[in-house]
Amino acid sequence: MMHCNVPKDAISFGQGVPFFGPPKEAVAAAATVLSEEVGYRYGLDIGTVGLRNVIAGKLKVSNGIDADPDENIIVCAGANQAFFNVISAITDPADGIVLPTPYYFNHEMAVRIAGCRPILVPTDEDYQLDVDAMFDAVDERTRAVVTVSPNNPTGAVFPSWALNEVNERCADAGIIHISDEAYEHFAFGMADHYSPGSFDKTTEHTISLFSFSKSFGMPGYRVGYSVHPEWMHNDVLKVQDTIGLCAPMPSQAAAEAALRLCPDYPSRFVPTIEEVRSLFIKVLTENDIPFPVTDGGFYFLLKLPDDVDALAVAKRLIEDHGIITIPGRPFGATFPALRVSYGNIDLEVAAEGLERLVNGLEAIL
Ligand SMILES: Cc1ncc(COP(=O)(O)O)c(C=O)c1O
Repeated sequence: MMHCNVPKDAISFGQGVPFFGPPKEAVAAAATVLSEEVGYRYGLDIGTVGLRNVIAGKLKVSNGIDADPDENIIVCAGANQAFFNVISAITDPADGIVLPTPYYFNHEMAVRIAGCRPILVPTDEDYQLDVDAMFDAVDERTRAVVTVSPNNPTGAVFPSWALNEVNERCADAGIIHISDEAYEHFAFGMADHYSPGSFDKTTEHTISLFSFSKSFGMPGYRVGYSVHPEWMHNDVLKVQDTIGLCAPMPSQAAAEAALRLCPDYPSRFVPTIEEVRSLFIKVLTENDIPFPVTDGGFYFLLKLPDDVDALAVAKRLIEDHGIITIPGRPFGATFPALRVSYGNIDLEVAAEGLERLVNGLEAIL
């Protein structure tokens, strides 16, 4: 935990949320349900029928995944809960879970809370998967391999061949590929998001996690879902029933309305985020700040010189230069790094923030 004095006019490249809120149709649906009995009673632990049906349609059309709404989908309070649900369902204490580093820190914490062992495997210099190294690290107690594409904190988008290879090698090893796709709508430039659950040879070994938080600008509503093979459905449902019981009913109504009435909502905002992303690339490269130009998830992970303490740099950037970034260590980065997020700011704020960042790094390093 870092304590520092945050100047009043600080600009944040820290927060991993998009700049937009939910569609008005979603807000209206939540408001309607709030005042009805269905809005305050417990709902089905698996999720409402309406939401699961619309999710199944979206999975088929947008992700190429064939999922039965009664056997393969469980709605829960966000992709974070979905991750914890499935880890709890498929592991025993001391089992191993392969996490490519840098990782999404809540995954590492969930693995530890479940009493399991994170098996950390570095990605390559462009933050792409080193599939051989991941499977070299698999031992007899390994239960799953996790991928996040587009990635937090690196922004890397993994190509379909790499994700399919992870699928195939998981199937060969008799373990599970957990694919976190919370940023499915945020792949930019030439990059495409790919759902490994669509690779039909291995769907018995693939769990896919999705979220409404980023795509529909509704992180506080807490809705996400897991898509998993039928053979583990009851085990995941037991965890869901025990931990969350059901996702908030007004939020499920909002999510259903969002997906049913505004399926293209996330793509409306992509051009704006792409503009800000281009400015980041231009300014950071012009100023020789090293980072792999990754393609998604509204993040870049900047590389700092080997001998600096990224936490101290981040603190000075905030206190002396009014620009908030997140050091790489909480994400398991084994080298000094700073995560910057470009999803929650407009061009003007981005330009001012980048100037502060460039000047700050020049003064500090
Ligand atoms: C990779 C990843 N997965 C899951 C989440 C959390 O999603 P949710 O709000 O649906 O729990 C985040 C949030 O930052 C994330 O970066």
